[in-house]
Amino acid sequence: MKYPKEYLEEIKLRLKVSQVVGKHVKLKKRGKEFVGLSPFSNEKTPSFTVNDEKGFYHCFSSAEHGNIFDFLMKIKNYKFGEAVRTLASDAGMEPYRFTKQDEEKENRWKIYKNILEKYVNFCHQELILEKYPEATKYLSERKITKKEIDFFKIGYASKENNFYEILKKEFDDKQISSSGIYYFDENKKKYVDRFRNRIIFPVKSLNGSFIALGGRVISKTTFAKYINSPETEFYKKGNNLYNISAARELRDKNEEIFIVEGYMDVVNLHKFGIQNVVANLGTAMTERQIDLVWKFFKKPTICLDGDVSGQKAALRAAERLFPLMKPDFNIYFLTLPENLDPDSYINQKGKESFLRLSDSKIEIENFIWDSYYKEIDKNNPRSLTLFEKKIKTLCSEVKDKTLAKYFLENFAQRMSEFTPNLNFNKNKFSKFIKPHSPLKQTREIYQRRNKFTEKELKEFSILFLVINNLDIFRKNIESLSEVNFSSDLMKSFKEKLMNYLLSEKFFDKKKLDINDVDRKFAEILDLINLNAPVKMISTNKTEEEIITIFNEIIKEIRKIDLRKKIESLEDKVSLNLDEKLYSELLSLRNQLKGG
Ligand code: UTP
Ligand code: MN
Repeated sequence: MKYPKEYLEEIKLRLKVSQVVGKHVKLKKRGKEFVGLSPFSNEKTPSFTVNDEKGFYHCFSSAEHGNIFDFLMKIKNYKFGEAVRTLASDAGMEPYRFTKQDEEKENRWKIYKNILEKYVNFCHQELILEKYPEATKYLSERKITKKEIDFFKIGYASKENNFYEILKKEFDDKQISSSGIYYFDENKKKYVDRFRNRIIFPVKSLNGSFIALGGRVISKTTFAKYINSPETEFYKKGNNLYNISAARELRDKNEEIFIVEGYMDVVNLHKFGIQNVVANLGTAMTERQIDLVWKFFKKPTICLDGDVSGQKAALRAAERLFPLMKPDFNIYFLTLPENLDPDSYINQKGKESFLRLSDSKIEIENFIWDSYYKEIDKNNPRSLTLFEKKIKTLCSEVKDKTLAKYFLENFAQRMSEFTPNLNFNKNKFSKFIKPHSPLKQTREIYQRRNKFTEKELKEFSILFLVINNLDIFRKNIESLSEVNFSSDLMKSFKEKLMNYLLSEKFFDKKKLDINDVDRKFAEILDLINLNAPVKMISTNKTEEEIITIFNEIIKEIRKIDLRKKIESLEDKVSLNLDEKLYSELLSLRNQLKGG
């Protein structure tokens, strides 16, 4: 008895090796890999590595090597079948039973896949051969490039295509109609192509087989703008996402992914190089869809239209997804300006602008709070009561009870602003604490700031100081040249600045070409511009003062490094009471105190 290859592949897709191994071996991340003490030998230094991207583990001390199935077989002494059953269940999949029905279903699946693939290829060929100028013209008006047409295998099903006849040579009517592409027209007494006269967007399953189609009209004559494959034995709309099979390959590079509404949104974001994107195709996000996304990405961002109905739909989605929240996964919401979807936004304003906009995404709990908050009458006890009850009910529905508690605490604190006098009785200190409302803007700045390490911000302050005092640093160029920046990014920026100091007279930000160094830079620059004290300090100061500030920042950076070192030493010492380490720790602590 043999498991179908796809079934095993799907298990491997859904489970990272580090996840499976991590249940038995304590793993630490090191670069792209994880390392730990080998479970197969008795060792003191870790020689056991796990590589999620390649899908295997390797033990250098025992030369054991394999995938997740091998691992369970080895560590638990399982037979192959037991390993498959256990891991399938961990992956949330149905067990494979090897009955006659399973076998027949397997055969139907092969035929289904095959028919869809043939149809997709046919339509794609028709389109790229430019047999139908109206289709080619439509796509070029929508700014879809050849590259995207190829990548997404976009096609065109012409009105009179006779592909049914071609399929008939290989498959029977029943097989063809099970594919969902054709329906039986009672009047004409024949099978008709459901997608005729439409641009075809093929939908792939998680592991890359074609399982459904979407078709868009190109003229105003037909009734629905899009039609989609009906649900079939193998295609359940709410289980799948458009482009998930390609997007998931980026999971090791990215924790984030955009969830958009439509085909065109995905194709156009992709065109601009934003490839971590999927679409739920106009349906309400289901629990299964978010679980699917979370398998690969911890931080999905749901993009929504800025209009009222889009906002309402998003709030409903947020309410539905909120109970599923887990501590190590998140969901963000990004509101687009009114009347723009991601497709039209990015085509009008470009990639940089879209990415900048996406920094204003907010976490699900804040999205819910903000949406409710807008609607309440803060002077009306009834309105406030309903609001509080709604929030409490929502928190009580969160399945992770610890998380539910903290959500509630967080909301309760914000709600206490509505009853300042009662709060005073409860807590005698509260009158000393200014009631602060979590202003949206402060929160945003805080969130953006948090994306950068303390050190990065400090290092950037240095560069900023230099940019604003070029003449001073031209004279003191050695002080800048001595700074050892922590990241390649900072290093390359320093390089640019140094060259600048050594050559031209006036500083021109544009000439630094920040965009092409890295978007992150533009962001930090923005941030510092917005609220760094450095900027104000740097105007009208004497050379001496500027250099003093410079040295202060350098000192602070040293302190950050020192603190890091101390922390990691503390970790080590707590595990291993080594006298030498301990005295090293003491001396570092003294250094830090000494300033
Ligand atoms: P939209 O109406 O937002 O369309 O539907 P769109 O994606 O912006 O399409 P363009 O730009 O006009 O071409 C979003 C998604 O909802 C589904 C489709 O999957 C679409 O991509 N939809 C929409 C349907 O299934 N049927 C429809 O009639 C309309
Ligand atoms: Mn659109």
